[in-house]
Amino acid sequence: MLKKIPFRRVRWPGWVVLIIIGSSFFYGMAQLVDAIRVDPESGGSSPVSIDFKTETDNTETYTMSIQSPVMEDSRFQKPIKGWIKNEKDAFLKAVEENKKELGEGYRAHLIIQADSRKSTHDTCTIIFHSYQLVNNVRGKEHVKTFSIDVSEKKFVKLPDILETNGDIIKVIRNRLQQHPNDKVQEALMDPSSWNWTLNSQALTLYFEDIDEAGPTQVEIPIRTILPYLNEKTVDGLEVTEVSIEPGEKYVALTFDDGPDPNVTPRILKVLEAHDVQATFFMLGSQAEKYPTVAKDVAKAGHEIGNHTDHHKDLTKIGKEQMMEEVQASSRKIMSATGQAPAVLRPPYGAINQEVETIAHDNGSSLVLWSVDSLDWKNKNAAAINRVVQQEIAPGAIILLHDVHSTTADALPALLTTLEKEGYHFLTVSQLQSLLAVESSSPFYGNMKKKG
Ligand code: NI
Repeated sequence: MLKKIPFRRVRWPGWVVLIIIGSSFFYGMAQLVDAIRVDPESGGSSPVSIDFKTETDNTETYTMSIQSPVMEDSRFQKPIKGWIKNEKDAFLKAVEENKKELGEGYRAHLIIQADSRKSTHDTCTIIFHSYQLVNNVRGKEHVKTFSIDVSEKKFVKLPDILETNGDIIKVIRNRLQQHPNDKVQEALMDPSSWNWTLNSQALTLYFEDIDEAGPTQVEIPIRTILPYLNEKTVDGLEVTEVSIEPGEKYVALTFDDGPDPNVTPRILKVLEAHDVQATFFMLGSQAEKYPTVAKDVAKAGHEIGNHTDHHKDLTKIGKEQMMEEVQASSRKIMSATGQAPAVLRPPYGAINQEVETIAHDNGSSLVLWSVDSLDWKNKNAAAINRVVQQEIAPGAIILLHDVHSTTADALPALLTTLEKEGYHFLTVSQLQSLLAVESSSPFYGNMKKKG
């Protein structure tokens, strides 16, 4: 059976490929590369303004385009320059070794791209992508990161900000489980050597030596690592805070099975009009099909959850397939929305010990529901409202589906009524924190007290 691998390869943008092809024909490589120079400020997230310069070199046998940060401080300059020099030396050595094949219209290429991004309030990461193409078709890719504490003027290693203990290692190892065990073991040995970036969504790790084809990228949702981040780091991260008033009533709206190109945009509009944040449990296959819709959900600030790839009953398939359903979906959702889902809702709410273990090992918490709106069955706006009114209680998680137009029809009246009754809306993760529910156990939300 063909196995899919649970990681995202670092993809070279199309223009890199185009340049490589194009540069075989153009002589003036230098001008070309300068024209597409990445503006480090374009993301608007850098805490310090790092300028980058591009040096180019063209000979009969190769072209080089190397972008590097312009930094005064020699403490930062030295290791960065050292890394670039190593890349360059390795490239020139390969050129030398392949001298016979090069020249006369066929040249080797080295491209090093650099970018900076903000990690925490005080930390900024410079990330290098290096790509060299000498005489084989695939080329060689490397990723290298340097994180700098801007206020204390020193390099930051991952263990400085994160407790890289067994729990974290276990999550990472799980993400890499399709790779040779000994290579993974070796890669994970020394956390202080890891290449990483961090933002309010996820910690991203890049491992060089696991896969010969190129760097392996692993995303860990911020929620998973939050307990292991040291206080100062958490302080610097812009983790969303919600003000909770004691004595008020809070519930969470959840939408499953989407994104849908017709219904999801309608639901987003209603939620926006009511200034309500909800949670969307997406199917990986749908997010892959409708990435723009998925992205719109994330952009509107809603929480994104994982509802598996193909909506299979996880308790009825083997462990491997179960893993694949969860991880492939997470990967697709991540690539569409830029967010790594930290909550998992298994289809049909079907769980067993194995599902719980897989969720936990993947750094997700299992979320079910306490109020089933029966929108999937009734497909009638009035009926949906009636069911929710009858069942709702503070702390409830309400199950809806953003694939039925009748659910979108029901939503305006539903929100208006619940608001009148004094309900406020949170995402499931916020509700979970509010109710202080242990994240390792399935979270159902509160039920109405009977009788
Ligand atoms: Ni579903």
